[in-house]
Amino acid sequence: MLQGQTATRVQVMAAMASSVLYWFSGSGNSLVVATALSEALGGVPLVPVVQALRLPAAKPAGVMGVVFPVYAFGLPNIVRRFLETVPLEADPYVFTVATPGVIPGNVHREAEAVLGQRGVALAAGWTVLMPESFSPLRLRLTVHRTATVLRRVNGRVADIAGAVREGRRGVRQDSLAPTAWAGAAVHRAAARFFPTAGSGFRVAEHCAACGLCARVCPVGNISVDNGKPAWGERCEWCFACMQWCPVGAIETTGLATNRLRYHHPAVTAEQIAAQTVSDDPPPPAETPADAPRGASTSRPPH
Ligand SMILES: Cc1cc2nc3c(=O)[nH]c(=O)nc-3n(C[C@H](O)[C@H](O)[C@H](O)COP(=O)(O)O)c2cc1C
Ligand code: SF4
Ligand code: SF4
Repeated sequence: MLQGQTATRVQVMAAMASSVLYWFSGSGNSLVVATALSEALGGVPLVPVVQALRLPAAKPAGVMGVVFPVYAFGLPNIVRRFLETVPLEADPYVFTVATPGVIPGNVHREAEAVLGQRGVALAAGWTVLMPESFSPLRLRLTVHRTATVLRRVNGRVADIAGAVREGRRGVRQDSLAPTAWAGAAVHRAAARFFPTAGSGFRVAEHCAACGLCARVCPVGNISVDNGKPAWGERCEWCFACMQWCPVGAIETTGLATNRLRYHHPAVTAEQIAAQTVSDDPPPPAETPADAPRGASTSRPPH
């Protein structure tokens, strides 16, 4: 057993040379976790999932981590598409880090199933609790714990980095069954609804016509007509448009009132906007041959 673990550790350390951390984030929590993890692992390149989908890696990674929020007890649709298509090395060490507000649901087992269809094993799935970003549920009840949750992040990340270095396998930090099974059923229905969820947003009169909501949208689902946003039908329901509007002009309809806005205090709207892909051609590769194209070098302070 010990011998096996040592072998795994050596293999993972060797593969770290071609390691990548992918991230997807609406309100900044997952970007902060990914950045802290990158630093704890000695500067592993950070790549936005949004860019990786558009500009696949020049060379697949031997160690691949993916950091993302939990949406309705499961994977964001965009992260699922990414896991279905990302180029992978033979026998890679793949791990997931989910950043739910309260309940991870079945998110790591869902990732395991998606990868399994490609014949790839998920080595480990960790969960780092973060502040809740789903505004309709962000009641004052959950706001009081924001500071406490944020204080714990670096400790959790250090533990995960240590486990990755050891090549730990078999971790699944999902909710306990049957909560996870119930969550999986809810998630299947929600995932079908997400693309059209933009129709639930409204813009108030006091919109300053700044266009920021369109720039932070990770999938280009917002067009700006006469300075005012209009939503299309490829929404991820990440809530970035609502969270980052500088004047709080975006509201949701048909859900609870008293919607408090949240974004991670150390992240800027520009850093979220930077995960999207412009129509410009990709920059020439200037990083080592193993680093994928489109790697983001932006790092939030934390
Ligand atoms: C549409 C939506 C659904 C969510 N569903 C869940 C959930 O099922 N369980 C949970 O604990 N958090 C849920 N959250 C909260 C986020 O997963 C959490 O706040 C995450 O840290 C946000 O990450 P980000 O800032 O990187 O976008 C949801 C958020 C959104 C926007
Ligand atoms: S970010 Fe807010 S103020 Fe700016 S265009 Fe969008 S809704 Fe209007
Ligand atoms: S429209 Fe808003 S909620 Fe939908 S993907 Fe874009 S930023 Fe996220």
